[in-house]
Amino acid sequence: MSFPATRLRRLRRSDRLRALVRETRLDLDDFVFPLFVGPRTEPNADLPPFGRLTVEDLAAEAAELERLGVRAVMLFGIPDEKDAEGSGAWDDDGVVQRALRTLREASSNLVLTTDVCLCEYTSHGHCGPLDGEDVDNDATLELLARTAVSHAEAGAEIVCPSDMMDGRVAAIRAALDDAAQSHIPIVSYAAKYASAFYGPFREAVDSAPAFGDRRGYQLDPANVREALRECELDVREGADALLVKPALPNLDVIRAVRERFDLPVGAYNVSGEYAMLKAAGARGWLDERQAAVESLTAIVRAGADVVVSYWTKELAGWL
Ligand code: PBG
Repeated sequence: MSFPATRLRRLRRSDRLRALVRETRLDLDDFVFPLFVGPRTEPNADLPPFGRLTVEDLAAEAAELERLGVRAVMLFGIPDEKDAEGSGAWDDDGVVQRALRTLREASSNLVLTTDVCLCEYTSHGHCGPLDGEDVDNDATLELLARTAVSHAEAGAEIVCPSDMMDGRVAAIRAALDDAAQSHIPIVSYAAKYASAFYGPFREAVDSAPAFGDRRGYQLDPANVREALRECELDVREGADALLVKPALPNLDVIRAVRERFDLPVGAYNVSGEYAMLKAAGARGWLDERQAAVESLTAIVRAGADVVVSYWTKELAGWL
């Protein structure tokens, strides 16, 4: 059948008809809101989600998020002091560990996930200790594993390694199991690209590399087969779910991962993706809310079961 018998506009005639046949819906259950915890409160007027909270402020923010219907958060820490190894990351009294205990004590119902990486904690801003100018892959594994265990012991329900070292999922799985944390899932940022879209995040957590860049460990944005190999290895090492990051430049990667693997697939709608729409919205160049909903819908349509997004709190008000 073709025109004029077929007229696709028939089902687009009203909001009610469009809603009836809509293929993709946004559900707050699938969204994770990133939170930044540091030594001092530092609001960010232009990009509110990148403001830092203290451990003390965090309980109130968590209660507010819960009231709005947000289900899950991902914690990032900014330590008092950074050093060459990033030792603040696995300190039992570190900022993320204290934040987790505080939320547990406040009986928060939010799913508590943590980003496991050393770049916020190293003085040089790279994702592990250095050997010359290069991140020492194998020395980093042990430190990531310690970090993940200390997060789990402090109350994290899911740990999310984002460093892109080879072998980190296996190292973290073994360490969690040894520490009687075999029930803690690993959501691996398996396909994490070396991206220009992490800018506002690095400013928020002060983790821009002091020299060089992250192209020696994060994926080349030109490659999709290599991303699938990363996923394959992480699955074999015991990952419970796979994350693709950033989301919007990599919708094809989300789709490819979705088709190849049966694990839950997540996507991280990163800081630069959020900031672009905020900036354009502030200038009146586009309708921020519509652009945000369209972007998030595209990420879910591409195949993401879980979306980490700075829009989560605003989305809770819109849905
Ligand atoms: C840590 C990490 C980064 C992001 C999440 N975890 C920064 C990076 O790899 O440089 C970026 C998130 C964002 O931009 O929103 N390695």
